[in-house]
Amino acid sequence: MEVRKIKVNTAKPYEIVIRKGLLSHVHEYILKLKSPCKAFIVTDNNVASFYLGIVKKSLTFGGFTVYDIVLPAGEATKSLKNLELLYDRMLSEGITRSDLIIALGGGVIGDLAGFCAATLLRGIDYVQIPTSLLSQVDSSVGGKVAVNIDRGKNLVGAFYQPIVVLIDPLCLKTLDERVLSDGMAEVIKYGCIYDESLFLKLASISNNEEFFEESMSIIERCCDIKRRVVEEDEFDTGKRMILNFGHTLGHAYEKMFNYEKLTHGEAVSIGMVEISKFGEKLGITKRGVSDKIERLLKRFNLPSNSEKPGIDAFIEALKLDKKGQGAKLNIVLLEDIGRCVIHKIDAEDLISFITEG
Ligand SMILES: NC(=O)c1ccc[n+]([C@@H]2O[C@H](COP(=O)([O-])OP(=O)(O)OC[C@H]3O[C@@H](n4cnc5c(N)ncnc54)[C@H](O)[C@@H]3O)[C@@H](O)[C@H]2O)c1
Ligand SMILES: [Zn+2]
Repeated sequence: MEVRKIKVNTAKPYEIVIRKGLLSHVHEYILKLKSPCKAFIVTDNNVASFYLGIVKKSLTFGGFTVYDIVLPAGEATKSLKNLELLYDRMLSEGITRSDLIIALGGGVIGDLAGFCAATLLRGIDYVQIPTSLLSQVDSSVGGKVAVNIDRGKNLVGAFYQPIVVLIDPLCLKTLDERVLSDGMAEVIKYGCIYDESLFLKLASISNNEEFFEESMSIIERCCDIKRRVVEEDEFDTGKRMILNFGHTLGHAYEKMFNYEKLTHGEAVSIGMVEISKFGEKLGITKRGVSDKIERLLKRFNLPSNSEKPGIDAFIEALKLDKKGQGAKLNIVLLEDIGRCVIHKIDAEDLISFITEG
């Protein structure tokens, strides 16, 4: 069985293991790091229906005493209320600092269970078992964990690395089409900012079956890019910003449509195309790059344009002061596919470019 491993050299190093069918072998990898203890699996109802049984069986076989906490699927689950529920359940089962938390699910579960692990009893070891494409290539790597509060998303969180990330690409087969595409936007992003050969490989894929065939190497490539960026900037004070390509505008679109109309990936897709058009206009991005991105996104059912936002909503979503006058924004621009730069711009220029077309 083919296994790929990536070592992440953060202050507390750990490995990412990628293997098809890994879910029924998780105990093998966890036992290398921990003796049998209490293992608290946190998951959501969708993921539980497919994979909780398999993971429980593997851990029980490995000698762990397994508990599971199944939460409703969806972004609303990443709340302080659920955090408290997790603390309560785990403490009532007598969790100690030598036990283990396991995040089995997409980014919502990874962020919530990870933040629980970071904070409960001042830190408990945790394992990421990401099951959505977005979580396999992005959120499970890098140690950012968080919950949402009324004032905004991810405002309460920590940097807290897992002891291992276990990725089974076969789980992607049960994802809804739209959730798969959502993650694909981040995969395409890695190609854009760092890796032309990944971009070309994606462009050569014509259907989901071909993607699943190539999924091991695509996930490996994305995790490795994220690893490099995170190793250089574990605490997000500089270089990590390149991962935000397409995200400044993407976040604005998500917010303007109240997080309802567009998924994160769809909003980022539009953001990547628009910011590249802007880059072309500035003469920083090579002509034709935005068209190339647009064509690739389309192949994975991702949008490249949206109705134009009102100027005020846009300014608010960008978190600029009134009318954004004089404000500067750091944004990520491509020079070409696979090469990016961080560039300071006048917010006003971007606002008029987007709102006036
Ligand atoms: N920590 C980070 O660095 C980071 C980075 C990017 C995003 N995020 C966070 O990640 C979250 C989004 O993650 P997401 O897109 O994975 O969302 P998600 O966790 O809500 O998962 C998307 C949907 O897919 C379902 N699902 C997951 N795996 C499945 C599988 N194998 N088969 C069938 N259904 C499955 C889930 O139940 C859910 O309905 C956001 O909260 C975002 O803030 C965090
Ligand atoms: Zn993103």
